[in-house]
Amino acid sequence: MRKLILAIGMIMAMPVAASAADAEAGKLVFNKCKACHVIGKNAVGPNLQGVIGRKSGTAEGYKYSEAMANSNLTWDEATIKEYLADPKKKVPGNKMVFAGIKDPVDEDNLIEYLKTLK
Ligand code: HEC
Repeated sequence: MRKLILAIGMIMAMPVAASAADAEAGKLVFNKCKACHVIGKNAVGPNLQGVIGRKSGTAEGYKYSEAMANSNLTWDEATIKEYLADPKKKVPGNKMVFAGIKDPVDEDNLIEYLKTLK
């Protein structure tokens, strides 16, 4: 009986856990970015607070490469996804030295996390 109650409890908790888990999992993926990106200020890379929906190359006070400054993109989900999968391909000549995220689930979770950085 106790097991059954536990099982029901887990099923009921699932939908909530699923949406929260994405951003939570994405926060772990973001560890790959932390060497260069600090939330709330510019570091080696620009401040990523509010990056989803922002125009590329516009974090205040950050000195971008010419390639990024002139890339004229809007970081919506589709665009940032392409960039993070292969930064050099999406914005040739940009100075972010990052091989890219190869796992699409990791990438989706990461974007979910970036969305929380408002
Ligand atoms: C080795 C350092 C480094 C790592 C690791 C890194 N970045 Fe960057 N990132 C940069 C630099 C430098 C730039 C600026 C590029 C330019 O000006 O050409 C940048 C730019 C960006 C931009 C464009 C921002 C804007 O304001 O237009 C996004 C988005 C971004 N990084 C996301 C990420 C994410 C997410 C990760 C982790 C998966 C990551 N970066 C990992 C250094 C890094």
